[in-house]
Amino acid sequence: ERVHLIAAARPNFMKVAPLYHALKASGDFTPVLIHTGQHYDANMSDDIFADLGLPAPDHHLGVGSGTHAEQTGGVMIAYEKIAMEDRPDWLVVVGDVNSTAACSMVGAKLGIRTVHLEAGLRSRDRAMPEEINRLVTDVLADVLWTPSPDADENLAAEGIPVERITRVGNIMLDSYELVRPRIEAEDITERLGLSPRGYGVVTLHRPSNVDDFRQLARIVEALCQVAQGLPLVFPVHPRTRQRLGRYNLGIKLEEAGVRVVEPLSYLPFMALVSRAGAIITDSGGLQEETTYLGIPCLTLRDSTERPITVTEGTNRLVKPETLIEEVNAAMFASSRSRRPDLWDGGTADRCVADLRARRSA
Ligand code: UD1
Repeated sequence: ERVHLIAAARPNFMKVAPLYHALKASGDFTPVLIHTGQHYDANMSDDIFADLGLPAPDHHLGVGSGTHAEQTGGVMIAYEKIAMEDRPDWLVVVGDVNSTAACSMVGAKLGIRTVHLEAGLRSRDRAMPEEINRLVTDVLADVLWTPSPDADENLAAEGIPVERITRVGNIMLDSYELVRPRIEAEDITERLGLSPRGYGVVTLHRPSNVDDFRQLARIVEALCQVAQGLPLVFPVHPRTRQRLGRYNLGIKLEEAGVRVVEPLSYLPFMALVSRAGAIITDSGGLQEETTYLGIPCLTLRDSTERPITVTEGTNRLVKPETLIEEVNAAMFASSRSRRPDLWDGGTADRCVADLRARRSA
């Protein structure tokens, strides 16, 4: 059976790669890789494909950047053509980006059996574009593959029948395990002159943090304070680079000694993260990766769709004003975190097994 796999933006690639490899190895499924083009810079896309052993996509939709409607509409128009010509047996969409919601709408209307990988996450904040994408995708998908019990509960509360839900675990960590030896062999920390656990890594890209001048200025101020005691490396997302430039805030970071660098590919980035003393972020995936690796994570957000990283893992939601205290507390407190169930590198195999079971059902 042919399975369309949709890859669009950076955090999708770590979710698609393990499933692509597992489908390929299964013998009874043929993955067809479709890149919507939402992310297109080499360091946001092609380099990560290469790190994860993904081939060039079978189809590239070349949609690119735009407003939400432009991007979502562009992906729908381009993917509909391919879905009509190619008629897959299954469509798998991952995560919560605009392309995820766009392709699930196309799949649902064409009657293609659609699966959402990383279903059921809810921040309950509809100001987040991802929350809208998650709601739309989950209500339309025929099969919902969830990472954690809270996701199952969210879906049940929304009236999704249990037989459509399978808890498969966290697919992102499969990517980590797939390439772990190569991550461990990376020399990025030496090249940057950093000592293990003696530095922090920063990532920021949420519109709520970077699009608003006052919020971004507060965060920059907090990072400058932290950098006085802890060297910080900050690989900057293109959206954030634009805002830091526009608001003249990038210069403040550099003056405070923050190492502002280009976005990194998966292998050097995970090497940097796995050896860090703390992570300061607003990313979704990093909240999970740090819980898996047992590294303190300070999340600059008011809510999280990944509450298990707080209740069981190493994550804390923080405000810019208290960041410095939180970093100090997190680095010196003894952590009692654990890895959530099924966050074990075996998720892609459980996805394939579920697809097999549903095929005959
Ligand atoms: C998107 C996802 C977000 C995800 C993030 C990871 C949505 C609504 N948002 O946000 O959930 O966490 O990806 O990075 O789908 N740009 C480039 N080069 C690129 C890609 C983007 O320069 O390769 C710039 C463009 O100016 C673009 C801006 O970044 O307008 C934002 O890109 P976009 O894909 O719209 O959203 P992200 O902020 O990346």
